[in-house]
Amino acid sequence: MTSKVKQDRVLIFDTTLRDGEQSPGATMTHTEKLEIAEMLDTMGVDIIEAGFPIASEGDFEAVSDIAKQAQTSVICGLARANLKDIDRCWEAVRHAKRPRIHTFIGTSPLHRAIPNLTMDEMADRIHETVTHARNLCDNVQWSPMDATRTEYDYLCRVIEIAIKAGATTINIPDTVGYTAPRESADLIARLIADVPGAPDVTFATHCHNDLGMATANSLAAVEAGARQIECTINGLGERAGNTALEEVVMAMKVRNDIMPFTTGIDSTKLMAISRRVATVSGFAVQFNKAIVGKNAFAHESGIHQDGMLKNAETFEIMRPEDVGLTETNIVMGKHSGRAALRSKLKDLGFDLADNQLNDVFVRFKALADRKKEVFDDDLVALMRVQEGEADDRVKVKFLRVICGTEAPQSADITLTIDGEDHQMTAQGDGPVDATFAAINALFPHSATLQLYQVHAVTEGTDAQATVSVRLEEDGRIVTGQSADTDTVVASAKAYVSALNNLLVRRTKSDPDADVKQVSYKDVG
Ligand code: KIV
Ligand code: ZN
Repeated sequence: MTSKVKQDRVLIFDTTLRDGEQSPGATMTHTEKLEIAEMLDTMGVDIIEAGFPIASEGDFEAVSDIAKQAQTSVICGLARANLKDIDRCWEAVRHAKRPRIHTFIGTSPLHRAIPNLTMDEMADRIHETVTHARNLCDNVQWSPMDATRTEYDYLCRVIEIAIKAGATTINIPDTVGYTAPRESADLIARLIADVPGAPDVTFATHCHNDLGMATANSLAAVEAGARQIECTINGLGERAGNTALEEVVMAMKVRNDIMPFTTGIDSTKLMAISRRVATVSGFAVQFNKAIVGKNAFAHESGIHQDGMLKNAETFEIMRPEDVGLTETNIVMGKHSGRAALRSKLKDLGFDLADNQLNDVFVRFKALADRKKEVFDDDLVALMRVQEGEADDRVKVKFLRVICGTEAPQSADITLTIDGEDHQMTAQGDGPVDATFAAINALFPHSATLQLYQVHAVTEGTDAQATVSVRLEEDGRIVTGQSADTDTVVASAKAYVSALNNLLVRRTKSDPDADVKQVSYKDVG
């Protein structure tokens, strides 16, 4: 057992803004990162990993601004095992009331081969870099990347070196999501027992979800003595993602009888931050996602509904309110006013300034004109979708499609480009294909379509569709989203929104492109 924190207190280390944001296409703007960091701080996250400062100017600025704004959370930045990375990281996090440097190196045979270091050379590098980090900051986390595939004896050796050099937290990453619960627990228990100095530091678990076991592996590690869980909101992250914060927090809360651990998280804030992260990352939450999915508290079958009416505990192991899901029965419609909209949005976790409310109100009225009842999910979709900005260069002015059983389908579209209207008719394999072909003809570009996704927000044939489009051009990845009761209109607007984002990216220094230059594999 570790001695740094109370035995039953588990620290929550959120890496949504670093490991989560690293997921291709999940790029967030500076303002969005600051907003998410503030929500994490307010909800009681112990440590926020705010970014990878050397990766790009944008990452550096985000980490330093988050460091300046944070009230309670420790602010951590990531650095590879070299002095330049660590210095840059310190420059960014040093503004925080409670800064932390997190430095790492891949220790498994496959990862050691990349910088071509012998075991001894790598051990020296760890000693040098952790010592350097600790000379700058008294809170240093060290990670042997791919720990779960590193030879056990070597893992013990390098952890001991890191502890002696001054690391205060040792993180054990399951980088490729390879381990299983019993193995995860065994590894932590053995390391704590075998490595000299281990009881004086905090052991952390960092799991990826490639085999769907990240939550189970993290909890098993805690049962074996880890006292920090690294996780992300909605399990955001590369490939199958990271451990989902909401899952580990609620598991320890609901099953406290068998997992007697506490966290500092205010669980009633989970739903709001989940929605916000889904919005800004463009990664929608799957309907049946544990804790925060749309259906997580929905009881549809007759037998379930009957049981629920008699006693909610029949089928519910936690209350919707525990995760911040406030079920109000007020359905909004075209007669609802601004105050009702504000209060409803507040219940849903969106606290809007007056100018933001005015903008949403206009879109709400337009929706209510087309849809008799506007449900909570419609409003969430309205908030999720960033409609065109006033300074967008390309706007959809008019769209009409001809579709039916006879191919090909055609689309007639008018785009306003830099203030001038341009019209085009194109054919395609279906109305969306035809629409995109017409947009491409009017606005040629070399980006490729990486993702086209449609979700029906509610039931019924008048349901809104939210559409997400992801484009890639020269390593830049941009997304666009839109919602409309007409799926083809939503598709056209989402596509045009992604194009506008691409135009902005082309003119600005590009954080995505920068990140590509700084690879995890390059530890030199
Ligand atoms: O998955 C991983 O190994 C990481 C490290 C950088 C900690 O994210
Ligand atoms: Zn990771």
